[in-house]
Amino acid sequence: MANQGAKRVPVAVFISGTGTNMAALLYASRQHSSAFEIVLVASNKSDAKGLELAALEGIETFAHSHKGHSREEQDAAMEQAAREAGAEAIILAGYMRILSDGFVERWQGRILNIHPSLLPKYKGLDTHQRAIEAGDGHGGASVHVVTPELDAGEVIAQVKVAIAPDDTPDTLAMRVRIAEHQLFPRAVNDYLSRGNDPDFLLEKVRNLALALAETHERESHGSPGFRVGGDKSGKFFAYFADRHHGSDHIALLVRTSGMDELLNLVENQPDIYFKPAFYGASGWVGIILNRSGLDWGHVEEWLTRSWRSVAPKRLTKLLDAADMF
Ligand code: GRF
Repeated sequence: MANQGAKRVPVAVFISGTGTNMAALLYASRQHSSAFEIVLVASNKSDAKGLELAALEGIETFAHSHKGHSREEQDAAMEQAAREAGAEAIILAGYMRILSDGFVERWQGRILNIHPSLLPKYKGLDTHQRAIEAGDGHGGASVHVVTPELDAGEVIAQVKVAIAPDDTPDTLAMRVRIAEHQLFPRAVNDYLSRGNDPDFLLEKVRNLALALAETHERESHGSPGFRVGGDKSGKFFAYFADRHHGSDHIALLVRTSGMDELLNLVENQPDIYFKPAFYGASGWVGIILNRSGLDWGHVEEWLTRSWRSVAPKRLTKLLDAADMF
């Protein structure tokens, strides 16, 4: 996906070995359409081959041996280097250490890994041997979001690689590696540009809005809108605005309590809120969605609040009662 001039997401790549996937990411990141740039290559092995290449290409490197350190200590050293380099996401490209839960939670949704199998098949090690022994027709590779459970996070991209009758784990690994080099940069690119992709953002908003009681979607002046109540008497509680009226923002418009609150929000947190054209005059605030650090929990709270301000009494009665305690 083209990056449409948006800022490139700075990423740190963690490696343990040859770093051929890191190299594929690095050269892909130098294409003008890349959504990311590599600000650090870090390793738990000071002699990892990939570190040499990264240094040669002018990328900052960092090594910290895991030997004699607890998992938390190792992670803390790697994390500090990543933060100091300004990384906003971490890409594991053959990093052979399991990350501590604390680390994964702090970077929730911002760590990707490539694994040499068609997940959910063959988590862990010896994936090619296991695929061959099982008589599988295909091996392959998967890119997934890292969660505390090993190789179990959401798979965002996969590639299949046919297994030949005379394949050994090594010959298969070689072809899988070539496929990985195609798959990984593209998957990282797509994942990291989701925050600027109106289709992705609308789908997230839609899921949250339509999860509220008695809601439906209705277009209004060409924008997707969300209403609560019946087909005829329903009221809008949210609109999705994709760069309207010369604005750069992809935004969610919701109701505030009035002009005082709206102006207050816009003045104090201009990187989150803005006063939208037309709707602003009636107290609607724009919440910017295409920004880093977007918190979907916060978006959900606003949707719920806005829904509640216009939903029929019979739907909000219980919530109003709960508020009294
Ligand atoms: C790749 O096969 C990857 O799937 C696995 O480790 C290997 C890394 O290879 N996680 P390289 O260091 O990128 O060459």
